[in-house]
Amino acid sequence: MNRLELTFAILKPHVIKQPLAVEKIRNVILTSNFKVVKSKRHAIQLHEAEAFYHEHKTKFFYKRLVTFMTSGPSDFYILAREDAIRKWRQLMGPTKVFKTQFEAPDSIRGQFGLSDTRNATHGSDSPESVKKEIGLFFPQFNIEQWYQLDEPKFRLNQIEFIQENFVHIIK
Ligand code: RTP
Ligand code: MG
Repeated sequence: MNRLELTFAILKPHVIKQPLAVEKIRNVILTSNFKVVKSKRHAIQLHEAEAFYHEHKTKFFYKRLVTFMTSGPSDFYILAREDAIRKWRQLMGPTKVFKTQFEAPDSIRGQFGLSDTRNATHGSDSPESVKKEIGLFFPQFNIEQWYQLDEPKFRLNQIEFIQENFVHIIK
């Protein structure tokens, strides 16, 4: 088995308001063979949303995006898998929900997205974004150390799943 890769995912506020949707997306994560390295529920603060979406600052949808993302708690996950970045984005489906509902109805956004802004989930688009985004929401997490010390144990499945915290821990 190849080395695991880390990615960073968010279940956005409208998903968290529907416990069944959370359960279904969590199921997709687990059945797609992702390991959950870190997991937390947290209401994004304005300064965090502004830092997170800095690259979209000049876009027409920026204000509504920041308003939406600060409207309630979100779930934040650090996920590990082979080819995690690409695989998670593939499971999410395309950004634009109105198109996605027709072109990829079985994708996460196809099923749980409500609009182009409220498109259910986030997934990092590159290793650089993973680093930046984990740094914002899990500042204590040491990526280099994880790859060095923990990755082999996750790869060899020397872990257990803690259902109530939706997280895998090393045995
Ligand atoms: P993400 O970063 O959330 O994983 O999504 P992405 O790469 O597929 O999309 P991106 O272009 O990075 O856009 C970031 C988020 O902005 C919101 N958005 N709204 N037309 C709109 O109203 C619009 N377009 C984008 C979405 O919430 C998108 O996830
Ligand atoms: Mg993006």
